[in-house]
Amino acid sequence: MVEVKVPATSANIGPGFDCLGLAVKKYNRFVVEEIEEGLVFEGCEEEFKNEENLIYVSMKKCFDKLNYTPTGLSIKIEGDIPVSRGLGSSAACVVGGILAANGLTGGTLSEEEVLNLAAEMEGHPDNITPALYGGITVSVTEEDRTIYNKINIKEDFKLCALIPDFKLSTDRARAVLPKTIDYKQGVYNIGRVALMISALSSGNLELLKIACKDKLHEDYRAQLIENFYDIKDKCSEFNALSVFLSGAGPAIMVMLRKDDTSFSNNIKKYLDTLRNRWEVLELDIDNEGSQVTIL
Ligand code: HSE
Repeated sequence: MVEVKVPATSANIGPGFDCLGLAVKKYNRFVVEEIEEGLVFEGCEEEFKNEENLIYVSMKKCFDKLNYTPTGLSIKIEGDIPVSRGLGSSAACVVGGILAANGLTGGTLSEEEVLNLAAEMEGHPDNITPALYGGITVSVTEEDRTIYNKINIKEDFKLCALIPDFKLSTDRARAVLPKTIDYKQGVYNIGRVALMISALSSGNLELLKIACKDKLHEDYRAQLIENFYDIKDKCSEFNALSVFLSGAGPAIMVMLRKDDTSFSNNIKKYLDTLRNRWEVLELDIDNEGSQVTIL
């Protein structure tokens, strides 16, 4: 029996479309066991108790790579990561499934093979890398491989996730993006990604406000998220260090000074005036990444 704990993640961090990501202290836990026969799920909705389940599909990918066929599987899920909100719930299932299957079969896949398989399944590596390794990461795809590096951050900030009661699938949020971008937009984002990494590593947090601006995805996705710009404006008014769409959205992620005590209450009062319900959740960075325990 294997238990895997995987953190929630927030991708892009503003300008770092498909390459920057961070892990936060909110987790999904999967307990997986090989049984005599059948496929048994616990802890998820009826509609996900089948062979299409992303955890199962990810386990199967790993088993296929290892030429292993389990007699049957029991998959228990304790999911704390909200689904389709931009907090890496699908990356958590992919990483959780692959690590669980690898654990059940004796850990034959190397770290690099796990990373590459997971990134290939997800289609981009920005949630997968922090889900596996924690912290704030840069990852790129080079041919079929994911190359990554963890950013050494001066961690004197905390995060606050604003999570709405509506879902937005990544497919839908990617479908509204243009096929090509203007050269100037590329230049705009490249500079800000570099500034973001430099600001995070030096602890020069005043730079984050400019560094988190983006021209590649947020404006296109804003139309899918009611009050997106109003909320961003309010966050700035309440002294956010930076505000950005979390992954493909619809959640919005805010960076705050570690000693900020007023932001959450203020933004909650404002969000309560809106038509949709928004949850306000302060979160710290997870630096551990996924944990596998053989039970
Ligand atoms: N980089 C991805 C996107 C993250 O913005 O579409 C969501 O999976």
